[in-house]
Amino acid sequence: MPYAHITGWGISVPEPVLTNDDIAKMVDTNDEWIRDRTGIRERHIAREDEFPSTLGIDAAVKALQVANLAPTEIDLIICTSSSPEYIFPATACIIQDQIGATKAGAFDLLAACSGFIYATNMAAQAIRSGSIKNALVIGTETLSRFINWKDRNTCILFGDGAGAFVLQASEKPGGVLSAVMHSDGSGADSLTLLGGGARHPATETTVHEGKHYVQMDGKAVFRFATRVMGQAAKEALDLANLTTNDIQWIVPHQANYRIIETAAKYLKMPMDKFVINVDRYGNTSTASIPIATVEAVQNNQIKNGDKLVFVGFGAGLTWGALVAEWTGPLPSTSRRHVHPEQYRFFARLRSFVRRALRFIEGLFSRREL
Ligand code: ACO
Repeated sequence: MPYAHITGWGISVPEPVLTNDDIAKMVDTNDEWIRDRTGIRERHIAREDEFPSTLGIDAAVKALQVANLAPTEIDLIICTSSSPEYIFPATACIIQDQIGATKAGAFDLLAACSGFIYATNMAAQAIRSGSIKNALVIGTETLSRFINWKDRNTCILFGDGAGAFVLQASEKPGGVLSAVMHSDGSGADSLTLLGGGARHPATETTVHEGKHYVQMDGKAVFRFATRVMGQAAKEALDLANLTTNDIQWIVPHQANYRIIETAAKYLKMPMDKFVINVDRYGNTSTASIPIATVEAVQNNQIKNGDKLVFVGFGAGLTWGALVAEWTGPLPSTSRRHVHPEQYRFFARLRSFVRRALRFIEGLFSRREL
């Protein structure tokens, strides 16, 4: 049975930065309160022409570059987002088209901030089963579009960005070692975005009532998160027959510094074993775990052979954890150097030609009718 290794990684973060002081000009809050209660100092906010797909494409191409894998070799793309481009089509399909992943199946997975753990686990399972060889997992967000910038409960928390992993099959032991996924829909009301779905299709009334904004019972989410983070990490470690002593790094969902502290206490682990960057990005939902991981790899904290726990929670309610041994790129069988960004030009051209052909086909089929 093949193992599923994480062999490529990339992130994409919008340039514009919104500081706590900037937010204090919009709502009744201040830098000290936000830092004290959340650990957040600033977050990145997407420009008008940046979307989950564009950030996701950028992160995906970088991940393929690290893995030295051509987009045409990907079998499956799973995109996870709490702020997808549309209800449908899936953001994964837009990314598939634009990077030139011509062979890949693509779908979106919705598990809010736990999405990246769920998606990585699903991709790993598909590889472990032998049905696919190469997968791309993307967490990408422009949650700023769904934030009420007059609601100090939520607007201080979230930021935009994207992260991607390439997962590949190899007979060498390692890669994803275990995972747990949980949900409790009885807590669905705690964190919601109600407008625009089938229950509340967008109307003037839904907009007037602010149903197109994230609504959150912060205290309820806080209590839930502090209860499940440590437990889930422990469960995944047990499944992998490991203990916290075997682990070099924990990469938690970056929602609130105090939530991470509680998990550290539960696991009896020092805070310096936790990768933390919530201060600079805020909560980027599905993108927070890959963004934190990639930064830690780039800073030489996470090294090949390290054992890691990814752990997260989010709306749903959902939560989960995944244990992995960090592999790095697989040794190449050939000397070729893949340049995934060059495929983008051909991907755009291919997409244009296909649209044109579909248009022409439409003209002829209308005449036939
Ligand atoms: N600035 C200043 N004061 C504030 C602010 C603010 N932004 N927000 C609330 N306050 C006030 C409150 O009105 C309250 O005042 P009062 O005591 O006079 O009533 C006081 O500060 C304390 O408010 P709490 O809500 O008790 O503050 P708390 O310490 O719980 O922090 C927070 C609030 C940061 C939202 C916290 O509850 C939290 O982080 N919850 C988890 C949220 C989360 O992680 N959500 C994402 C989940 S992942 C996903 O799926 C997207």
